[in-house]
Amino acid sequence: MSEPRQEAAEAGDAALPVGDRNPPRPRLVALINQKGGVGKTTSTVNLGAALADAGRRVLLIDLDPQGHLSLHLGIDPDTCGETVYDVLLDPEVGLDSVVHKARPNLDVVPANVDLAAAESELASVEDRHAILTRKYRAAAGAWDVVLLDCPPSLGMLTLNGLALAEEVIVPMQAHFLALQGLGRLLETVSLVGRGVNPDLRVSGVLLCMHERQSSHGREVVSELKQFFREAKGGDQAWSGASVLLPAVRRNIKLAEAPSFGQTILDYAPNCPGAMDYRTLAQRLLERWDKEDGRAGDAGRLAPSASVQTAVVETVREESSTPSATVSVED
Ligand SMILES: Nc1ncnc2c1ncn2[C@@H]1O[C@H](COP(=O)(O)OP(=O)(O)OP(=O)(O)O)[C@@H](O)[C@H]1O
Ligand SMILES: [Mg+2]
Repeated sequence: MSEPRQEAAEAGDAALPVGDRNPPRPRLVALINQKGGVGKTTSTVNLGAALADAGRRVLLIDLDPQGHLSLHLGIDPDTCGETVYDVLLDPEVGLDSVVHKARPNLDVVPANVDLAAAESELASVEDRHAILTRKYRAAAGAWDVVLLDCPPSLGMLTLNGLALAEEVIVPMQAHFLALQGLGRLLETVSLVGRGVNPDLRVSGVLLCMHERQSSHGREVVSELKQFFREAKGGDQAWSGASVLLPAVRRNIKLAEAPSFGQTILDYAPNCPGAMDYRTLAQRLLERWDKEDGRAGDAGRLAPSASVQTAVVETVREESSTPSATVSVED
């Protein structure tokens, strides 16, 4: 808990400014897809940056031995010191001690190739799936949102992510084969999650590198929407899931930003990719605040001028393209 909140809690709610009387509960989100190259890391970094820009304190945890999230944020995985590997393997290393500050409100727990050995080194450790959860709960850092960038596999690292997370976002591309794999992925996630985290729910699919003009893409989107409609009201982990809005358009700036060690908000703040992640962050915040009973909290939710521009431009573009009729929606 941050100091102002602690003081406010001690003094009672009356000491809180109106917008903080019902502070947001921390959101723990794993970005998972066992398929590689679908946009997990790009979305973790840029959604995280957009949430941080909107005023939430965000922690990103790199759970991938490729260390792409760390690299994307300009952290050299070879010289950054202790990483998530040490958090998982060394009982003496806490989460706080490996946190790097990437930009205002945006903290990162890096990873490097050492993490590849963690799967086998953890094999004999008791409660190995719950180590990250324990370390997170013991951490002093106060974050509003934690995003977990999982590797493209469902091993012990992903399991640690699923044990800590409350919700799962599945980044994917609107391709036929990806759709075929989705049902299996959701079942695996909920089966794996059930053992370690029965409350885990899938909040949605995030379409990445989306091409609105492609008729194939539009067909896949409408099948996805049908899939989630049919799942509504059931007792599956994905019964409340939907296609998240907006889909992230294919945008070369998003592919360029990592080579400068920058988020898209720093590298090209007005490009379509930046707009999509800002709008996505705003909609997630609205959804979360609604769930927390903070729907009228306009002070914290008022979009900045750049977000308003992004929303207006996105809407304008959607309504001026033929694909608008099948644009993704809840
Ligand atoms: N919307 C986009 N437009 C253009 N390029 C993108 C977009 N999203 C991601 N990319 C690029 O696609 C590639 C794969 O993205 P990313 O690394 O985020 O996927 P991933 O799912 O994390 O991959 P892995 O499974 O290997 O961890 C990267 O080169 C990234 O820069
Ligand atoms: Mg990745």
